[in-house]
Amino acid sequence: MIPLLMAVHVLGVVLWIGGVAFVTIIVFPMLTRIEGSIEKVIFFQGVEHRFAKIVKICVAIVGITGGWLLSITDGWSRLFTWHGIGITLMLIVWIFYLLVLLFEGRFFRIIFKGAAQQDMSKIFMKLTAFHWLILGLSLLTIFLAVFAENGGI
Ligand code: HEM
Repeated sequence: MIPLLMAVHVLGVVLWIGGVAFVTIIVFPMLTRIEGSIEKVIFFQGVEHRFAKIVKICVAIVGITGGWLLSITDGWSRLFTWHGIGITLMLIVWIFYLLVLLFEGRFFRIIFKGAAQQDMSKIFMKLTAFHWLILGLSLLTIFLAVFAENGGI
């Protein structure tokens, strides 16, 4: 059971974090080249809306398989220890994304409130910084998870 759960877990991670990397590295620089605030917002929300559906499925799959793996391997005792830094970060990243997805609607309403009057490039700079932050944290988690699992820690 463990190999199957691990394979599905990692597939979910690849689709999810790969998508975050694509949005951060490809979509955001494209946005800066789009003229007009409203066009920017429409394009951005179109991409995020489609991507959010995929992410929700991935977050569910990764959470279920991850929790299952923890139970089978009695990994709960490794949480919040130095050797369990990989799984501890996984849990933190997962909870963080879950909160972002749960409050996504409210989050966007606050960000784009009165967008026409605001300087959109400043808003998109903040959004870009936020995406780089979560991408960096996710990549660090993957790095440490694989490093620790292969005897690095
Ligand atoms: C509820 C959230 C999660 C739980 C409970 C969880 C749990 C686990 C467990 C128990 C393993 C088996 C390896 C080990 O025991 O160290 C594992 C593997 C892995 N997880 Fe997670 N995980 C979660 C979320 C994530 C997230 C968000 C990421 C990526 C950002 C991630 C990336 C990985 C990777 C890359 C492996 C393979 C490591 C290797 O064996 O080389 N996991 N996860």
